[in-house]
Amino acid sequence: MIPVYEPFLKGNEVKYVIDCFKKNWLSAFGEYNYKLEESFASYCGVKYGISVTSGTAALHLAVAALKIGKGDEVIVPDFTMIAPALAAAYQGAKPVFVDADPKTWTIDVQKIEEKITKKTRAIIPVHIYGHPCDMDPIMKLAEKYNLYVIEDAAEAHGALYNGKKIGSFGNMSAFSFYTNKVITTGEGGIVVTNDKKLADRVEWLRNFCFDEERRYFHEEIGFKYPLTNLQAAIGVAQMEYIEEIIKRKREIAYTYNELLGKIPGIVLPYEAKNVRNIYWMYSILIEDDFGISRDRLKELLYKKGIETRFFFTGLHKQPPFKTEGSFPVSENLEKTGIYLPCSPNITQEQLEFVSTSIKGVYDKK
Ligand SMILES: Cc1ncc(COP(=O)(O)O)c(C=O)c1O
Repeated sequence: MIPVYEPFLKGNEVKYVIDCFKKNWLSAFGEYNYKLEESFASYCGVKYGISVTSGTAALHLAVAALKIGKGDEVIVPDFTMIAPALAAAYQGAKPVFVDADPKTWTIDVQKIEEKITKKTRAIIPVHIYGHPCDMDPIMKLAEKYNLYVIEDAAEAHGALYNGKKIGSFGNMSAFSFYTNKVITTGEGGIVVTNDKKLADRVEWLRNFCFDEERRYFHEEIGFKYPLTNLQAAIGVAQMEYIEEIIKRKREIAYTYNELLGKIPGIVLPYEAKNVRNIYWMYSILIEDDFGISRDRLKELLYKKGIETRFFFTGLHKQPPFKTEGSFPVSENLEKTGIYLPCSPNITQEQLEFVSTSIKGVYDKK
């Protein structure tokens, strides 16, 4: 089976993990944690990084740090993995959904303003599948309505918008280091920010809000979200070659684009002129002209030993968040989208096999 994704570990990961054991750095306290926080923040071009147990925890702490809660609304794209909506809901706030842009599949910036109310406190733009959101209009709206921006960059490490790293635009940004992400720590994540006060607050919330003078006294409801050094050690090793991973992800995308580009009914992933898409997952749409449904294509590829995965289901349809409204782009993405194997270590032969298998399905219909 050619998997959709497998972790790519080829550097100092084992060496650094063994070093943790030798030094007894098993919890969050130890050098690798600080090194990961520093190197990742500096890679994003921001001052502070606070490592946590997951991308979801990073989003949750960002929402909590801004004191967003009951009675507040947070704008979230409809087409996304569920975590940003959960982060708002964990704090008692209501996620309000905005449809996707038909080209980039990220939040449609034309449709944000109509969803802003007196209760809106923040926007969480999500850089879907590695393509940056259109950050300039988002930041302008945030300024106009006095809203916070928390970038959900879980899928887009190293992506660029107008030459600047995503993760450096919002008040805070959240990244995931889950196994299938651009770099991994197994499970893990990080909050990055330029705001010292917010960074200190996230760090405090991350570990039970311990009081500096009276340790077991807690001024607020805190959390227990620290990344261990064993995990951070893997991340430090991954940071040593993150650009190589991104280069490979882009090569994979170019190769697929070349091999699949002329097949009718296939819509390739987009890259706006002012961005660097890092193509976290190589994603395509299967439209009517292809002649065979996306679901049937998945079955036929599976029989050939090729694993694929469907796109997200819109958040307005998720049972905890059921919402009336019109989300035509998100619904079309859910119906037609599929992602193809794209681990950094996929071979040229495998890329050709996947592509010729798809072409074969089209030719035989
Ligand atoms: C857009 C988005 N946000 C947040 C997350 C949550 O990250 P984690 O799985 O590390 O909690 C994911 C994970 O897949 C994601 O795709």
